[in-house]
Amino acid sequence: MTTADHDHHPDPSHDRDGDGDGGQPDRSSAWQAAWDVLAPVTDLVTPMAVRVAASLSLADLMADGPVPVEELARRSGTHADALTRLLRHLVHRGVFTEPAPDSFALNEPAALLTSDHPAGMRQRLDLGGFGGQMDLAFTGLLHTVRTGQPAWETVFGAPFWHHLAANPEMSVSFDAMMAAGADYAADAVSAYDWSGVRHVVDVGGGTGALLAEVLSVAPDIRATLVDLPDTVERGRQHLAGRGLDKRCAFAGQSFFDPLPAGGDAYVLSGVVHDWDDEAAVRILRRCAEAAGQDGRIIMIESQGGGPGADPAMFAEMNLRMLVLSGGRERTVDQYGALATRAGLTLTDVRTTPYGQALLICQA
Ligand SMILES: C[S@@+](CC[C@H](N)C(=O)[O-])C[C@H]1O[C@@H](n2cnc3c(N)ncnc32)[C@H](O)[C@@H]1O
Repeated sequence: MTTADHDHHPDPSHDRDGDGDGGQPDRSSAWQAAWDVLAPVTDLVTPMAVRVAASLSLADLMADGPVPVEELARRSGTHADALTRLLRHLVHRGVFTEPAPDSFALNEPAALLTSDHPAGMRQRLDLGGFGGQMDLAFTGLLHTVRTGQPAWETVFGAPFWHHLAANPEMSVSFDAMMAAGADYAADAVSAYDWSGVRHVVDVGGGTGALLAEVLSVAPDIRATLVDLPDTVERGRQHLAGRGLDKRCAFAGQSFFDPLPAGGDAYVLSGVVHDWDDEAAVRILRRCAEAAGQDGRIIMIESQGGGPGADPAMFAEMNLRMLVLSGGRERTVDQYGALATRAGLTLTDVRTTPYGQALLICQA
């Protein structure tokens, strides 16, 4: 067995090219070349291993220094031999170290997985939380590509929003992940002049992260938070915690039903991309009805093109939206076409330093 076999091949007794000749140099070098190119984009072992380490909070357990694996297994409620194999694999991939035999410790990459790290990666990768579940949905990607349908339902047994509604813990985790991008909310809010707005309605506004920014920068504005009832309740608590709830009304309802009327600005932040065209037009029509002739509808989505856009992120999110909920990322022109179908006109587009687009529409 060569070093390359040891490093890469899943079966040590395997004849690399499977032709019974012991892997002659020509074919094995072709195998090696193919492996070198494809391994970084095909390995499922390491990404799962990192997620398992995150789910078990292993980095937290090593925060005070190296820990013998038996002790780590006891503290994490795991099987010591299996845990050793997991950590050795990760050590070889540069996450964690083994400073003495059977004793493991943090290194810089592993320290990124501690619960109190501001990046929140442990929570994001936790297989028991929304982030981890979202990643597991990709085990159904083949189904999505064959059918054009979201994998979520086949992987978890119910469509995305139904699944969240039926699993309150997952819904809490989803809301927390949405609210985690507070700097994105501030980025979006900074790109609009709120001075002419008296009443802003955030439709599908989650737990109020964006509204909190608007209410903070525009002290005379009133707000209404519209979202599903449990999420709105969490929003009420969030805004109360920031002392902003007195200027905010709360509407726990579906945005497919008539929306509170009388707002000057109806915000849809990261909402339209969750849905296919037909559903997106229905939501926009509800906003158009409520906004009337004078109100504005402001979609906030990632930019599909132009300066500041990130085409790789756009492509990934476009696939992600399809796998999760059957939604899609769209270009400015495509958002404009949706607006037209909803009886609106796209009148202005602002872009933000973080690459978001504010698509401003009116009747
Ligand atoms: C991707 S999140 C965006 C949240 C927030 N606007 C943000 O920018 O972070 C989509 C939001 O739509 C809400 N939502 C989904 N279906 C809904 C429905 N039928 N009626 C109202 N809100 C809904 C979800 O609860 C969630 O808060």
